[in-house]
Amino acid sequence: MKNVGFIGWRGMVGSVLMSRMSEERDFDVINPVFFSTSQLGQAAPTFGSKSTGALQDAFDIDALKALDIIITCQGGDYTSEVYPKLRASGWQGYWIDAASTLRMKDDAIIILDPVNHQVIRQGLDSGIKTFVGGNCTVSLMLMSLGGLFANDLVEWTSVATYQAASGGGARHMRELLTQMGMLHDHVAKSLQDPASAILDIERSVTDFTRSGTLPTDNFGVPLAGSLIPWIDKQLENGQSREEWKGQAETNKILGTQKVIPVDGLCVRVGALRCHSQAFTLKLKKDVPLAEIEQLLAAHNEWVKVVPNDREITMRELTPAAVTGTLTTPVGRLRKLNMGPEYLSAFTVGDQLLWGAAEPLRRMLRLLVD
Ligand code: HSE
Repeated sequence: MKNVGFIGWRGMVGSVLMSRMSEERDFDVINPVFFSTSQLGQAAPTFGSKSTGALQDAFDIDALKALDIIITCQGGDYTSEVYPKLRASGWQGYWIDAASTLRMKDDAIIILDPVNHQVIRQGLDSGIKTFVGGNCTVSLMLMSLGGLFANDLVEWTSVATYQAASGGGARHMRELLTQMGMLHDHVAKSLQDPASAILDIERSVTDFTRSGTLPTDNFGVPLAGSLIPWIDKQLENGQSREEWKGQAETNKILGTQKVIPVDGLCVRVGALRCHSQAFTLKLKKDVPLAEIEQLLAAHNEWVKVVPNDREITMRELTPAAVTGTLTTPVGRLRKLNMGPEYLSAFTVGDQLLWGAAEPLRRMLRLLVD
């Protein structure tokens, strides 16, 4: 059995990974070794039935060198510090990473095996040892719209995202919920009074939102009752870094010869852990809608085509419905007024599952099965 080291297993993505690995009995087929950046020596956790002794030092290169495979959800700073040293020491093991640091390196593959199994296999055959989870919006788009890309039907796509707080991290989720609670508390009395005027309540909420009272250490500005049309750093060309990733990562994951343009606007909204995305797709030809639906549905076992029907869409194509599941639904499929090659689509997906943890555990299974 392979020795597999886990770093960052206690954080939010790491916890989801541990829980999925337990559900799928992944611990039965490996020897897990747990590392910590702060609590070495303390008892390691038990997942599945294996107890694993004490937590080891996540910065100890010799301890890391003893592993066949390392999975890290610790974040980019850890990767930047440890990965180069470990490789420089001659370590030839497999590095599986949730952070973006190594994603665009030539000797790394972005992993999303239902979409790019062949690219991963070819990489393994050619000796690639570094595998990195993709940006969550990109992975979730490809899980939902993979059928169109796999059949080479997409000329370009433009997207508007509705990204959940979890994409920022655990503290961002707490901040959003705290803001929501404070806003409600601020007007709770008036809300209970049926005679109160809604515009007075709204003004009170708006004044309170602008008063500087809400906690904003993580988002920078209030998100509850609002939105933020900027995610990640500002680039010189006017894109946000999140928007830049759309085209760069999509094309790398698919291993395209000719770049498929992907661009749009990334927006943070008050959802908790599901990213939603509204697409305009320019197809290479006029494909009947029924055929499009078939191609989408047949692409992988997690995508689900939601009929473009009001009731079903409201029930099935929302963060509230999808959170905590591996389903990656796509709906609102219809030809746009611009012409028969123009298609609209709306996707929803759990940012912590297919958007983060799931591709990592599936890569592990590819290595050990
Ligand atoms: N950058 C994403 C977000 C997180 O902020 O929502 C996952 O890749």
